[in-house]
Amino acid sequence: MNRLELIQALPKAELHVHIEGTFEPELMFAIAQRNEISIPYKSVEEVKQAYNFHNLQSFLDIYYAGANVLIHEQDFYDLAWAYFEKCADDNVVHTEMFFDPQTHTDRGIAFETVINGLQKACDDAKAKLGITSHLIMCFLRHLSEEAAFETLEQALPYKDRIIGVGLDSSEVGHPPSKFECVFAKAREAGFLVVAHAGEEGPAEYVWEALDLLKVNRIDHGVRSEEDPELMQRLIAEKMPLTVCPLSNLKLCVVDDMQQHNIRRLLQQGVHVTVNSDDPSYFGGYMNDNFIAIAEALDLSNEELKQLAINSFEASFISDTEKQKWISLIQALV
Ligand code: ADE
Ligand code: ZN
Repeated sequence: MNRLELIQALPKAELHVHIEGTFEPELMFAIAQRNEISIPYKSVEEVKQAYNFHNLQSFLDIYYAGANVLIHEQDFYDLAWAYFEKCADDNVVHTEMFFDPQTHTDRGIAFETVINGLQKACDDAKAKLGITSHLIMCFLRHLSEEAAFETLEQALPYKDRIIGVGLDSSEVGHPPSKFECVFAKAREAGFLVVAHAGEEGPAEYVWEALDLLKVNRIDHGVRSEEDPELMQRLIAEKMPLTVCPLSNLKLCVVDDMQQHNIRRLLQQGVHVTVNSDDPSYFGGYMNDNFIAIAEALDLSNEELKQLAINSFEASFISDTEKQKWISLIQALV
């Protein structure tokens, strides 16, 4: 099996994808039209031209604007269903999707509308495509901790449908320490916890996510490499990093893919995984990310298999399920 065939054949789990970041321009136009909402673009081509980012904030401004057309339960369903179809194409058999409730509740959309639409798509993905999933709700870190507490309160009636909480949006200037109390409350309520850290922010933010938020995984974390003591800690604790190569390239976290550190991290024993982050905005879904790093870094088939194994080990599925997928990967030649 050559490298491209192996990437396609590998079963994979996606652990870092923002469902609002899977919003393809074609679907955005269709939903805007049926909801009679005007968007500041005349064509799909014009939308794509606007996806010319130079850092995280320049992306987030456009990403939040795009989410404004999502109003009804059916809109959230359609958004998630379109992503599940991409998963099926890429042999992503399990996904743990982020959603940003505040992006919607702050516009007057009920929490229930969002969760019902997403949950129905998850149920259909299991029934029709055999894809399993979990939902992780993220607090927007540019907003206050008080606002995050309100969001946690709103989520409690849906606790059985949300496996964890996360932290996303503008990183620099909004360290994990800002959310220490609300994460403690979320953990007490039984949520697993993850946080974006070390994407644009410094290694110090990764320490805070570990020590103060007590996360189960770090999202991104690529800047951890700048701190050798932190690297030792990540390796010793087998702490997963959900790395997103095309995102890092598009947001200028790295200058070109040959400079990406995912292979060095893997070789040093860090538990890295490959993910798409906001695939509609960054130019590719799961397999596009695998292909981009495999080609730029000349990854071996063994390394590609290890990355796929890591994705299941770092996931929130049962040990039995993990073992089932890992055995299937190990059997691939
Ligand atoms: N929200 C969506 N994508 C994000 C990213 N890459 N970093 C932080 N917040 C985000
Ligand atoms: Zn992200």
